[in-house]
Amino acid sequence: MAPTGNRQLIQWISHWQEILSPDQIHWCDGSEAEYDRLASELVKVGTFKRLNDDLRENSYLALSDPADVARVEDRTYIATTDPGDAGPTNNWCDPDDLKAKMLALYTGAMQGRTMYVVPFSMGPLGSPIAHIGVQLTDSPYVVVNMRTMTRMGQAVLDSLGDDPFVPCVHSVGFPLSEGIQDVPWPCDADNKYISHFPETREIWSYGSGYGGNALLGKKCFALRIASTMARDGGWLAEHMLILGITPPNGEKHYIAAAFPSACGKTNMAMLVPTLPGWTVETVGDDIAWMKFGKDGRLYAINPEAGFFGVAPGTSLKTNANAMKTLWGNCIYTNVATTSDGDVWWEGMTDESPDELTDWRGEHWTPDSDTRAAHPNARFTAPASQCPSIAPEWEDPDGVPISAILFGGRRATNVPLVTEARSWEHGVFLGSIMSSEKTAAAAGTVGQVRFDPFAMLPFVGYNIGDYFAHWLEMGLSTNSVDLPRMYWVNWFRKDTNGDFMWPGFGDNVRILKWVLERIDGTGEAVAKATGLVPAPNSIDRDGLGLSDGDMAALLAVDNDAWQSEADLIEQHYARIGDKLPEELRNQLSDLRRRLTA
Ligand code: OXD
Ligand code: MN
Repeated sequence: MAPTGNRQLIQWISHWQEILSPDQIHWCDGSEAEYDRLASELVKVGTFKRLNDDLRENSYLALSDPADVARVEDRTYIATTDPGDAGPTNNWCDPDDLKAKMLALYTGAMQGRTMYVVPFSMGPLGSPIAHIGVQLTDSPYVVVNMRTMTRMGQAVLDSLGDDPFVPCVHSVGFPLSEGIQDVPWPCDADNKYISHFPETREIWSYGSGYGGNALLGKKCFALRIASTMARDGGWLAEHMLILGITPPNGEKHYIAAAFPSACGKTNMAMLVPTLPGWTVETVGDDIAWMKFGKDGRLYAINPEAGFFGVAPGTSLKTNANAMKTLWGNCIYTNVATTSDGDVWWEGMTDESPDELTDWRGEHWTPDSDTRAAHPNARFTAPASQCPSIAPEWEDPDGVPISAILFGGRRATNVPLVTEARSWEHGVFLGSIMSSEKTAAAAGTVGQVRFDPFAMLPFVGYNIGDYFAHWLEMGLSTNSVDLPRMYWVNWFRKDTNGDFMWPGFGDNVRILKWVLERIDGTGEAVAKATGLVPAPNSIDRDGLGLSDGDMAALLAVDNDAWQSEADLIEQHYARIGDKLPEELRNQLSDLRRRLTA
């Protein structure tokens, strides 16, 4: 019998049962016993290998099919009746056409398999900011990952009651019909579809078992569908970390920060400050849902319950808190393993072990000319195990945000930190966030890829409307209650091509200036691009950076910025006529200031 009285849910499941034809249905209760049982079954079929319990307690390794290793943006669709609602940055499809194509693939797709019903909450159960989804999947690997990444199971059904939910359908697309043998990582590599139907708030995913393609709570729900819910409901669903920061005076603030994928968001969320007396605590490392509270301030929750972090590059030096989170209860995907049953990836230690089993399951030595771990190898870890987790990280009301940071990876032109002059100017800065594909020489502009608000692959609607929504959000409250906005760039390089700023734990020095700006003590000077720290207002104590180094980090070269303005113009032209007038005005203001 179904463990819920929710009629809509029960009908939806029987509808899909008919199409997908699973052998059986399992309603996930989210218990530890269920997790352990599924993990043992995954070991039996070869998807999981249990790691050495003395080194990584209760942890597993999965090696994916080499054709299923990352999110597939070119197979990700936003299906709306009017193509203009998906906009120029999304792959558009007509909803009926897409559903017809996918239904053909879904028909019989779960033959010989169990269909798991995974009720999950994005956000603490009962939080006024949280939302519930239900995922159907034929992948037990997905189920165990969902248990770590979300609040999952019977408690979610109990909390849902008869309310609506976001329906999410997922199949790896590898039916076990007569005579077909299962494989450790089933998928349908040539037919992947990651589809979103914002008008009906549905998610349909087919063919992939990996990460954001398959753990549908994360990018599909918490960003693409949630961004459309947020537009309609007057809130924000963003690709941002959330951290708490306490200066020596004890006055804690919370900061949200958007960085594109693989720009160190998880590292920043778990930053170990190099300044004495400062503490940074983690609320979330990837996604923030933010709503204005009754007091007029913007409150954020982390809708997730775990970290699905990129493993390569993570070490005790770059992110000690992440490493300490990984002691046990984790799932590792596409990392390398040592002969004694531990994990390893590039960057974890200065020297690699003498021999490893690589992510393809093959023998590897330092002489091999391939990487031991896949560059997108991941750990799935419970957030509660993180030593820097903020005690209030599950507060259903969220935490009040004092500042929002936008960051990219820019070798040139973009100063270490810039304060926005106003909310509108901040939205302008968010809209022109960018990274350079090539490390260009200082002062010139490399191949710049714009990634507005780090949301390029994640906005579930027209990006021009998304900018308009951000602008409108600034009218929701008194301007003194709005978070201040900053553009940061840890990645500026000198003429030798070396990073000028140490980054990591020293980024607390930038946060210190941000808090000083908020309390009115931090000094800034106006540049054409915004407000940058006045000389000597960034704490350089113990860093060994000269006045000249600091000036170079904060420099704004108006000539070089003329070319930046041209690139912004082109970027805006691609967005087309939904670009808000206000942002065009911001660009004209910038041009005017550059020549003033
Ligand atoms: C992620 C991403 O997996 O941004 O978090 O790609
Ligand atoms: Mn991300």
